[in-house]
Amino acid sequence: MYSVKQISSQETYPVRQPVLRPGKPIESCIFPGDDLPSTTHFGVFDNNRLVGIASLFLSASPDIEGSMQYQLRGMAVLATHQKKGLGDMLLAAAEKHAVNLNADVIWFNAREVAVGFYKKAGYEIAGDIFTIPDVGPHYVMFKYI
Ligand SMILES: CC(C)(COP(=O)(O)OP(=O)(O)OC[C@H]1O[C@@H](n2cnc3c(N)ncnc32)[C@H](O)[C@@H]1OP(=O)(O)O)[C@@H](O)C(=O)NCCC(=O)NCCS
Repeated sequence: MYSVKQISSQETYPVRQPVLRPGKPIESCIFPGDDLPSTTHFGVFDNNRLVGIASLFLSASPDIEGSMQYQLRGMAVLATHQKKGLGDMLLAAAEKHAVNLNADVIWFNAREVAVGFYKKAGYEIAGDIFTIPDVGPHYVMFKYI
């Protein structure tokens, strides 16, 4: 039985680390703005076990139009739980929350390997591929909500 709930920034780190920062220290999982009041973290639970996370930051991209923009960061599902629809559950929760906050657009830096996942959820690419040091090739993606 899977459910999505809001969680604290600290709760995200045990999922951020193995999925997004493998082999790197826990400090590499702390993102600037994690504890701002405008930031929200979501977790998807398999019964009581946290197995996936996503975070929404109030942040505008210079590449995207929109007066109220939220950035999705730290989207990750444990390898044991991928391809079961949990990423979609997290995206849906983040989008619903952003609508309640009167956001007009959600955007993010998508890993190239995850672009297909986000396209299925209705996101589009803006601009050219670029590299984030230590992480790899990315595209800016966005969806008006
Ligand atoms: C990308 C990620 C968050 C997707 O989560 P998930 O729970 O595996 O995705 P879902 O099961 O909800 O997939 C929803 C749909 O997207 C598809 N999909 C999932 N991952 C995909 C990928 N990497 N490429 C293309 N399609 C993908 C699924 O097959 C499914 O399609 P369907 O509805 O036709 O069956 C997860 O695989 C992950 O954490 N990957 C490693 C970290 C990462 O890359 N994070 C994103 C950083 S930008």
